[in-house]
Parts: sequence; structure tokens; C-alpha cells
Amino acid sequence: MKTFYLETFGCQMNVHDSEKVVGTLLARGYRRVDDPGQADLILYNTCSIREKAEQKVYSRLQQFRREAGAGKLFGVLGCVAQQEGERIFERAPHVALVCGSASYRRLPELLDRIEAGDRRVAGLDLDTDETFETPFTRRDSPYRAYLTIIEGCDKDCSFCVVPFTRGRERSRPSESIMREARQLAAAGYTEIQLLGQNVSSYRDPSPAGWDFATLLEQVAGIPGLRRVRFTTSHPRDFDRRIVRAIEENPVLANHVHLPVQSGSNRVLERMRRQYSREEYLEKIGWLKNARRPIAISTDIIVGFPGETEEDFRQTLSLLDEVGYDSVFSFKYSARPNTAALALDGHLPEQEKSRRLAILQEKQRAIQLRRNSEWIGRRVEVLVENFNPGTGQWVGRTSENRVVNFTSPQGPAEALAGRYVEVHVTRAGPNSLAGELAV
Ligand code: SAH
Ligand code: F3S
Repeated sequence: MKTFYLETFGCQMNVHDSEKVVGTLLARGYRRVDDPGQADLILYNTCSIREKAEQKVYSRLQQFRREAGAGKLFGVLGCVAQQEGERIFERAPHVALVCGSASYRRLPELLDRIEAGDRRVAGLDLDTDETFETPFTRRDSPYRAYLTIIEGCDKDCSFCVVPFTRGRERSRPSESIMREARQLAAAGYTEIQLLGQNVSSYRDPSPAGWDFATLLEQVAGIPGLRRVRFTTSHPRDFDRRIVRAIEENPVLANHVHLPVQSGSNRVLERMRRQYSREEYLEKIGWLKNARRPIAISTDIIVGFPGETEEDFRQTLSLLDEVGYDSVFSFKYSARPNTAALALDGHLPEQEKSRRLAILQEKQRAIQLRRNSEWIGRRVEVLVENFNPGTGQWVGRTSENRVVNFTSPQGPAEALAGRYVEVHVTRAGPNSLAGELAV
């Protein structure tokens, strides 16, 4: 029997793609192993969103080549595969398979060729209107499931490599999404996360013609589901009906991730984000005025080409104005093919690092303050696992806050996958802590 090892880098879409790739390989009779030394086929599902992510892949390829030794087959999947294409065969001659996410449907055929002895097999077609689905996706968790609703991206943000690595936007037919969501609920999954680079521009290609808000309402109505999340929404397409859907369906989680990138209109324009600070804040206002509290998180890039000290200050003031529950912040990283490469005013690495540190320090204080508001309250937690190191269970609230808590019975109580009430006693910038409420 053939064995494979698969390591995943990057975003949730990659994590979920890997679940599909694993299912495809298992269905072909491969067995998964945790040690690359034991594998016949070593695969990396890669990320190229920032330069560092990309370098990690090449260093891993070198490292395992030495460690894993001769006679192994290596494959590079995902965004670095799509971006670098057949150049990977030159840079890493031991690689036999290079395949971008838009070509995963062809994996069985590509594997046939490798098994027949072909040593340079590539799937790099981006010109597809298909979404990658499989009947045998192997999900990592038995109660939380990712579900793809849209792939690719038609936005044209000047810093972003995704449109080049994942191709044109294509929505999955609603009946196919609903069928899989119902199957997941029937199989005992209680949390579903709808996935796409830009879920808010979802457009059902089938005659039903649902938009994203309708899809949300329909998925939320499936019996058995207790939490439905979605990532990521683009502020430009984020409309009031999405907020109304959340208000009217308690199953839709109390959390929206709405990436802003910058608080300065001048920078937003140069990023081609298609909204202003004021338009963004209007949408934040809808969320803040919703009938129940909704946690808000975002992504921010510091040190975009031409970002002045004043632009940066506007991003800092936006953090104060919104009071985000969490922020993913990054230094701008120049990416191949993107329009921002040609902009003037690229900043030195040191200056980007300085701004990132200031921003993260500020946000840390905001989060500590926001999390402290939960002390003394009871929260509902979906339990994920037990951490033997701390003796605590770990789970998440509907707002997506991490909660560490103790239970009188410790690990003896099988809590994973259950919804429990936790009494919050402490708060840190990144999590809450408490005790199982009885
Ligand atoms: N539509 C996707 C975007 C994926 S990229 C989503 O919203 O999840 C995720 C985040 O990475 C972006 O929101 C942005 O903040 C960051 N990012 C993208 N390209 C970048 C670059 N060239 N340099 C630094 N950060 C970047
Ligand atoms: Fe990238 Fe902008 Fe699309 S950040 S994924 S081009 S919305």
C-alpha cells in the first residue's frame, strides 16, 4: 500500500482543501502517515500570501529532501505551486508534482501519471469555472466542519496574490451546498464555517439564484446545526441583509470578520479596496447597532507603499473607533504580479516592523479591555480539547473567543464536542479563563 505525508500552510481554505486532497488520496488506496520518513509521497499544500510563507515552503522542501532521503516523491500543491508553476521543477528538481488549487479535480489523473513513472507532472490551469468538491472529504474534526461556498476572487486589491493563485471567482450551486450541510448535520456536526475568499459576493449559479444573505438563512435553518460562521466578507459587498440575517437567526454566530486593511482613505484608494473609511464605518455601525452584540475582527496591513506617518495614525485611530475584538495584522509584503509592486514609496523593513509593533501593542490593550468586560459572566462554549499542560479544557464562544476552563472532573469528563456553560473568572488579551458552571 502506498503512503503519503501532507503538511498544510496558510489559510482556512488551504486547511479545507487539504481535507479534500486527503479524501482523494485515501479513496485511491493511499494511507496517511505522520512521519515524512515513512511516506512514499510527500506533499505540501502551500501559501504565498506573504514572502515569508513562501520561503517556508522552499526551506521545508530542502530539509525533507535530506531527511527523507532518496526514492521519495515530492509534490507542491496550492498557491506557491500556482504562482511559481514549472519553475519549481528547476529550483527543486526532486519535485515530481506541481498542482494549483484550481486543478485539484485533476489529482487522480495526475497521480495516475506519477504512478506510471512520469517525473514532472503539473496541473496549473487557472481557467476553470469549477469548484473543487469531493464526495469523500476527510474532515479533521467530528463536530466543526468547513464548507466551501465560493472559490477564487474577482476583487483586484493591489497588494494581493490570491486572484493569481486561486483564479476567478466561482460560486458553488446552492443545492450542492445545502445537500452537504444537511449531510454534515445528520453526521453530528453542529458547527459549520462557510468558506471563500469573498463569501459576501456569493451568487448562486443555479436557477434559485440565492444571494449570500439567503444562503445564510437557509443554512441556519438546517435542524441540528447550532453555530454557523463565515469567512471572509469583503466590506464592499457586505450588505445590511447579512446583518438582518444574523439578527433573525441565533444559529448564525455572534461574530463577523470584516478586513479593513487600512484606516486611511489615501491608502485604501492605492490598495484598490473600493470603499472609504466612512463607508466601512457605516457597516461597522450596522453591526454595533444589531439586536444582539456581534464581535468584530479584522485584517490590517501596515507599511503599504507610500503609507505616511499620518496614514498610519489614521489606522491607529480606526482601532480606537471600532474597538475590535481581534485583529490579524501584517507587514506589507511585495508579491509577484501585483499592481502594488509598481507603486512608489516602498518602506524599509525596519519601519514596517516599528509600525507593526506599535499597532499590535495598541490592539493588545484594546483586547484586554474588551475581554475584561466578560469577567463574572457565563458564556456558552463549544469544547474543542483538553490541554494536559495546563489541566484546562479549551473551547470557543459564539463570538469566537477562546475560553480555557477547568472542570471538577478534569480530563475524565468527555467534554470535547459538547456545548457547556463556563463561568468567566479571568481575562487576557487573547483569551478568557474560567470554570465549568454547574
Ligand atoms: N479575501 C481573503 C484575503 C486573503 S489574504 C480574506 O479576506 O481572508 C488574508 C489577509 O492577508 C488579507 O486580508 C491581508 O490583510 C493580508 N495580506 C494579503 N496580501 C498581503 C501582502 N501582500 N502583504 C501583507 N499582507 C497581506
Ligand atoms: Fe485578496 Fe482582495 Fe481578494 S485581499 S483575496 S484580492 S478581496
